[in-house]
Amino acid sequence: MATGRIFSGVQPTGNLHLGNYLGAIRNFVRLQHDYECIYCVVDMHAITVWQDPAELKSTTREVAAAYLAAGIDPKQSIIFNQSQVAAHAQLAWIFNCIARMGWLNRMTQFKEKAGKHRENASVGLFVYPNLMAADILAYKATHVPVGEDQKQHLELCRDIAQKFNNDFGVEYFPITEPLILGAATRVMSLRDGSSKMSKSDPSDNSRINVTDDADTIARKIRRAKTDPEPLPETREGLKDRPEADNLLGIWAALSEQTKDEAVAEFAGGQFSEFKQRLADLAVEKLSPIADEMRRLMAEPDHVDAVLADGAARADAIARPILDEVKDIVGFLRQ
Ligand code: AMP
Ligand code: TRP
Repeated sequence: MATGRIFSGVQPTGNLHLGNYLGAIRNFVRLQHDYECIYCVVDMHAITVWQDPAELKSTTREVAAAYLAAGIDPKQSIIFNQSQVAAHAQLAWIFNCIARMGWLNRMTQFKEKAGKHRENASVGLFVYPNLMAADILAYKATHVPVGEDQKQHLELCRDIAQKFNNDFGVEYFPITEPLILGAATRVMSLRDGSSKMSKSDPSDNSRINVTDDADTIARKIRRAKTDPEPLPETREGLKDRPEADNLLGIWAALSEQTKDEAVAEFAGGQFSEFKQRLADLAVEKLSPIADEMRRLMAEPDHVDAVLADGAARADAIARPILDEVKDIVGFLRQ
């Protein structure tokens, strides 16, 4: 077993997609054999933008079900939802007082999500990365598996840990390493190779949802945007062809090949044939997960029990760490 502790999270905001699976959840499953792992459903992050309360309960269970269905073992790893462990909010407040406005002003995700209506964005959306740092550091996690889009937030987490350690003259928090693994760390939209596949894209055709049925997956891949050229002969041939690059990246990740191997396999071929094979492979990999998620969603009490057990175990790790942090900061406690 490698030394270190893994923490990661997924927001329960609906439409769990292939990017979430290949960029994050599939790696979560693999890492649990080598590390102590804590996997969170970050419901507190979700409410930085409006969430319907009944739907939030259901999407929280859905992410938990996806973790289980993908193969995370709740006995070996910890699965829980963030709001059940108070340390996250408590440490986030301390980090609100450590992080600087200038740091947060540089966060590209805030700029994207707040859009033109910055004045109208919630304060929570602005300090979102501080809560994320609290998630990680409440467990002194050493490694965080994520997709590429989270890189900047993890750099902020390192800055917060460093500033905390400096300000208080301690070597307390670890400087956490991101783990950005696999051939598809940034899966792009099927409709536009220059934008990321995302839960919030208004076009459902832009993404493959983990719960899509076989016909839907095949149709979305068939209609995915491509260019008129055949598939390239070499890796260099993917330059300036973002859609081909994306689809071959998805193929590589699903088939456990490198991108070079994927390019070689389809070199000079037609998209129509490649898309058929890609659709078959995506269905083969995703449909067992979707079936198991449906089975679990029909047993909400079971999912809730997994989350409650996980929360108790997470709390047992975070509580003594938070106590030490309080001592360092100068808070009196019992
Ligand atoms: P989110 O959907 O923002 O909660 O993201 C959950 C996890 O999925 C994070 O580790 C993200 O980096 C990862 N992720 C989200 N979208 C993509 C994507 N299009 N490609 C690869 N990873 C992604
Ligand atoms: N911000 C992450 C995302 O949207 C989710 C997240 C919240 C997270 N807290 C985390 C990921 C801690 C890794 C570690 O994808």
